[in-house]
Amino acid sequence: MFTDKFQQIREALTYDDVLLVPSRTSVEPREVSISSKFSRHINLRVPIVSSPMDTVTESDMAIAMAKQGALGILHRNVTMNQQAGFVRRVKREETIIIRNVHTVSPETPINELRNIMRTKNIGGLPVVSGEKLIGIVTRRDLDFAGKDKKTVEDIMVKKVISAPDNVSIEDAIDILYKNRIEKLPLIDRTGRVVGLITAKDIMKRQNFPDASRDDDGQLLVGAAVGPFDLERAQMLEKEGVDVIVVDTAHAHNENVMNSIRKMRKLVSVDIVAGNIATAQAAEDLISLDVDGLRVGIGPGSICTTRIIAGIGVPQITAVSDVAEVAAKHGVPVIADGGIRFSGDIVKAIAAGASSVMLGSIFAGTEESPGAELIMNGRKYKAYRGMGSLGAIQTGLSDRYGKIGANKFVAEGVEGAVPFKGKVEEVLFQLTGGMKSGMGYVGAKNIEELQKNSRFVKITSSGLRESHPHDIRIVSEPPNYQIYQV
Ligand code: XMP
Repeated sequence: MFTDKFQQIREALTYDDVLLVPSRTSVEPREVSISSKFSRHINLRVPIVSSPMDTVTESDMAIAMAKQGALGILHRNVTMNQQAGFVRRVKREETIIIRNVHTVSPETPINELRNIMRTKNIGGLPVVSGEKLIGIVTRRDLDFAGKDKKTVEDIMVKKVISAPDNVSIEDAIDILYKNRIEKLPLIDRTGRVVGLITAKDIMKRQNFPDASRDDDGQLLVGAAVGPFDLERAQMLEKEGVDVIVVDTAHAHNENVMNSIRKMRKLVSVDIVAGNIATAQAAEDLISLDVDGLRVGIGPGSICTTRIIAGIGVPQITAVSDVAEVAAKHGVPVIADGGIRFSGDIVKAIAAGASSVMLGSIFAGTEESPGAELIMNGRKYKAYRGMGSLGAIQTGLSDRYGKIGANKFVAEGVEGAVPFKGKVEEVLFQLTGGMKSGMGYVGAKNIEELQKNSRFVKITSSGLRESHPHDIRIVSEPPNYQIYQV
């Protein structure tokens, strides 16, 4: 009964145990596409996601990630109102289609119009009679208005160019450009103004052509919720969140699964469930109709779950076990935790993940919450596990450790990680490494990486050989930093 457990014991591997084998290739890294899925309905040009941790992802991080084509998942160690506020900030960062359009009537006196433009900081307004669009008035019309002009009707442009509500962003750009106009009202079939596109917002968008956006052109954002927090999930959905990540240390738990079943009925945005580490957990969660699976029990840099509870599965085995099941159902897998270098991302995706989630690497960037710290003349930023004492004592996050009423069993540590500059620079290095890896394998895209790659298992000598050796490094490249923290 007991010895059997060891006779058929399975070997489980992680990133450092394997390498991808190079193949004959005609693929150049610069031609590679790394587009992939985060969840069933969320596509990312850069399949890298920042963790929902209170030292990693708030609005600034989520905005920076989405602008680069990646995604941020807002942490839940705040009240649901605060978290909804984070979502609002991301969604409002770049609006392509303004939905809450200010309008004026033709009878509005010019003085009042001037006042509206000044206080609301608006350069132009559609003019409506009843609800119907009949003109447009801009600051320029106001500036050049003669003294005899009294109302909006006297100065507005009557031949207003508009577009139907479902116009594509590309067609809207075309219309704005061809007609040399600044503002394009969108109208429904009855002529009612239901949106507005401005040239200024389009220009802003062109600075980030590869950003992750929703159909209205707003940046994508995800948010974590506790498994039983149905109210929070609904509030976040109302605020416009694009994906809900059910955030628990062990999603393969009956109570958690019952609650996910309820949540599925209440929210219609994608739901990602996790964390899990086995094929059976994947089967059971997929049967609840979730849209993505987050994999990783204990691989994270701040995690002590494996040490405190004796539980976990080395990450690359966990990822491939889950992906084997998930692929049959078309459910994307997120490899969460333990990624230290860009090569680990290539390995995670080759092993079946569709995207990766990173805490430590992003905690060190300018956009993570909190100030920079200086220690021994080097810059750092604070980073802590969501199961660390500091995080669980806030009382808001119940991901780990609530065993007694006021006593906690921590499953994470608190510390600091080296400062790494802007998210944009970090992502540039990570995606560059991914493209390089895919070039060696001969994979033009993620699908080919998953299909055509082969792994070899290495020994501790192989790992030693892989890292720089027999040299004192005097200049660290930005993509290879092993600090003695
Ligand atoms: P990295 O390695 O990127 O890992 O820093 C981030 C992931 O670690 C998980 N996480 C924890 N796991 N105790 C744990 O066992 C914790 O306190 C803890 N906090 C975060 C989480 O999955 C995150 O994305």
